[in-house]
Amino acid sequence: MAKPAAEKPFSQAVKERRATPSFENVPIHSADLEKIIRIGLEAPSGYNIQPWRFVVVRDPEQKKKLRAAAFGQPKIEQASAVIVACGDPLGWKDGDLEEMLRISAQHGFNDPAEQEKILKTVTGFLGGPAGKAAGIEPTFDLWANRQTMIAFTTMMWAAETMGYDTAPMEGFMEDQVKALLKIPERVRVVALLAVGRLKGKDKLYAGRFEPARAVFADTWGKSIEF
Ligand SMILES: Cc1cc2nc3c(=O)[nH]c(=O)nc-3n(C[C@H](O)[C@H](O)[C@H](O)COP(=O)(O)O)c2cc1C
Repeated sequence: MAKPAAEKPFSQAVKERRATPSFENVPIHSADLEKIIRIGLEAPSGYNIQPWRFVVVRDPEQKKKLRAAAFGQPKIEQASAVIVACGDPLGWKDGDLEEMLRISAQHGFNDPAEQEKILKTVTGFLGGPAGKAAGIEPTFDLWANRQTMIAFTTMMWAAETMGYDTAPMEGFMEDQVKALLKIPERVRVVALLAVGRLKGKDKLYAGRFEPARAVFADTWGKSIEF
């Protein structure tokens, strides 16, 4: 069993994180896994609708099959856990909105008129012309992906600050992953997050674009000065 690690400051985690090339095949402490997941579920989402779902794969047989659905990437099988992040484009129409309102009522947002207003606003935005104008309708895929990646990334940083190593992955065959994990038809698989302990040498840091290339001031293309 991997040892629980002392937490590191966020800035240190950012400096030290690499897309882990290879993992020790050790189990993760379930308390640590729960912490990573719970922190991720604290991520913000539009109207707090939380259209994400996660399948945590730890079973060795399942990991082996998941590896096959991920172009044979060995780290899937080596990692202590692989978090399969999914976005449900239509969960908001199918109970998530009501559940979100029920929970928010428990936290003090319990004025029925306010709740009714939120319900109308959300359904009006997502399902109406505003949703089309925002590029969300008609598939809601972009929308579900947008929200899910925030929770995914929050889990990644949570794991890294806790001393675990992570590897985000988009190299998988969605249909195969869905079939293996029995993910419903309408749900999209957004990304996989392998979590565990680095084995051997980490990857080199490959550098990043300077703000001068990637960040603009006020309008696209205008250099930013800090
Ligand atoms: C969404 C996403 C998907 C990725 N998919 C894969 C993958 O399938 N396989 C892989 O080996 N690395 C994958 N990577 C890792 C990237 O190649 C890596 O993050 C990038 O080269 C920068 O390196 P660094 O994270 O070590 O700084 C992915 C990264 C992200 C953010």
